[in-house]
Amino acid sequence: MSHDRHSYAEPALVRTTHLELALDLDFDAKVLAGTATHTLAWSGPGDRLVLDTRDLTILAVEGAADGDEWVPLEYSLAVSDNELGSALTVRTRGHERVRVSYRTAPTATGLQWLEPSMTAGGMMPFMFSQSQAIHARSWVPVQDTPGVRFSYAAHVTAPPELMVLMSADNGTASRRTGSFDVVMPEPIPSYLLAIAAGDLVFEPIGEHSGVWAEPEMAKRAATEFCDTEEMMRVTEALFGPYRWGRYDILVLPPSFPYGGMENPRMTFATPTVVIGDKSLVSVVAHELAHSWSGNLVTQDSWDDIWLNEGFTSYVENRIVEAVYGNELAVMETAIKQHATVIKLDPLSPAEQAVELPGLNHRSQYHGTSGLGPLKGAWFLSWLEERFTRETFDPFLRGYFDRFAFRSINSEDFVRHLQEQLLDKHPGTVTEAEVAAWLAEPGIPAFAERAVSARFEVVDELRERWLTTGELPDGAKHWTTQEWLRFLDAAPDVLTAAQLQQLDREYALTGTANGEIARRWYSIVAASAYTPAYEELADFLTRVGRMKLILPVYKALATTQPGHDFATHLFSKARPGYHPITTAAVLKILGS
Ligand code: BES
Ligand code: ZN
Repeated sequence: MSHDRHSYAEPALVRTTHLELALDLDFDAKVLAGTATHTLAWSGPGDRLVLDTRDLTILAVEGAADGDEWVPLEYSLAVSDNELGSALTVRTRGHERVRVSYRTAPTATGLQWLEPSMTAGGMMPFMFSQSQAIHARSWVPVQDTPGVRFSYAAHVTAPPELMVLMSADNGTASRRTGSFDVVMPEPIPSYLLAIAAGDLVFEPIGEHSGVWAEPEMAKRAATEFCDTEEMMRVTEALFGPYRWGRYDILVLPPSFPYGGMENPRMTFATPTVVIGDKSLVSVVAHELAHSWSGNLVTQDSWDDIWLNEGFTSYVENRIVEAVYGNELAVMETAIKQHATVIKLDPLSPAEQAVELPGLNHRSQYHGTSGLGPLKGAWFLSWLEERFTRETFDPFLRGYFDRFAFRSINSEDFVRHLQEQLLDKHPGTVTEAEVAAWLAEPGIPAFAERAVSARFEVVDELRERWLTTGELPDGAKHWTTQEWLRFLDAAPDVLTAAQLQQLDREYALTGTANGEIARRWYSIVAASAYTPAYEELADFLTRVGRMKLILPVYKALATTQPGHDFATHLFSKARPGYHPITTAAVLKILGS
């Protein structure tokens, strides 16, 4: 069993099999307080239980050996490590259950507490969690490693005007009584623990899916995500049953730091994809895909995150193809591959080895950065092409079946690959080719790039515009993806005249499309095109999704005036940002 270096827990000795939470949400204090009761399965001597915590105040720890007799237990909280937090070690005697009474800090890294003014409605406060990768420990004392899985039940009390939702069986009725009880009957890893509370209403999409959002947003979001039910059907047809009951989407306020988070039964999503034309709904395909890759078959440590995000990126693309057609799927693959290549291009082979390890290499990250996930998706597409879908699709389905509700590592996958695909179809790929993907840096030379005919046209028109100033023909009718391509492969810096020409024709400044905005404002910032700075500032203040705003901050930081502007802007935007967004911006600004 591999040990997870991102956790102090000792799953070889003891594992939580079930967790019972009793929590109260205190919006005035920005504190969540209560108890976490662990049901334990011991394989060691039973003399200690180590849980992960970060910035938690531990009020008491009790144990029950038989019956419901709770007895106080001795415990100690280690000095906090900056990255990992602080190990809570409990002196046990093989107790079947251990109950921790605790409260969170207002600065808990896994929670954001929003003032009413930071919501769409402006009247009620809001709070939400973001546990992945190692932030669950900041709101629940838990074995915070994806190698441990447990079911959970929660009893939550909250101000009576608010709705509380968790990654569990919330149902569809918005009954606000101040008291909520939910259950997640399937064993999940800690990073999928999730909670949110606010002025939330339900809007159905279909029989098995719906949207939770603030009243202002619910109907629009349900319309944007109207294909969710079909996405579920096509994924089931390809890769086997959806095993989580309902699939609902919670649309969060704009400070949500990610595009989406695959909390089981309740994907958390950024409102920046609700723009009225469905052009960014591959985020839903992605989070839904995690119901198979990640949530059902889980990496047992963050070193193997490619098993999760790489497979998901691949499955996402298959869903997009099945629902929206090959042309869009190819464009989206090409956009992802372009991002990979761009990141690698300037790097020497030695640097590439660090940026892009073989798939089995320990990742330096426990986040989305790093290219393992992109390389993993590319690897799977390549396998698919070599073996053909007729063979590859049942293989992948078999993989999800075999490892369902288990946490595995890369070696488990590679063994399965060898047995179920390579050995059964000898002569289709060579060992050297597989090794090139799994063990060598960079993208193998024999990997084929996705070719989009539409993008070839966009590329030509961009080059013509850059050399002659002639505006791209037909651009007024481009899809979002064509715009993304146009901007992705444009020079980092353009002249004021060029930017003004584009803006006059296509009104890019002020666009409601966050993916276009992040690329456009990055060029604006790197080009110091000040006429667009007011809208740029508005974007960076309104939105907290890291993928959209960090590139713009980076581009601003390349010049001194830009850096000054960004610093000033950040001081105003900061109260609205999530703690992890704040940390990321501070890193870019070097303060
Ligand atoms: N699970 C990730 C988000 C994540 C990864 C959070 C690592 C914390 C650490 C989620 O599924 C994801 O990948 N979201 C993407 C959207 C997707 C379409 C690529 C995002 O947030 O942009
Ligand atoms: Zn993902």
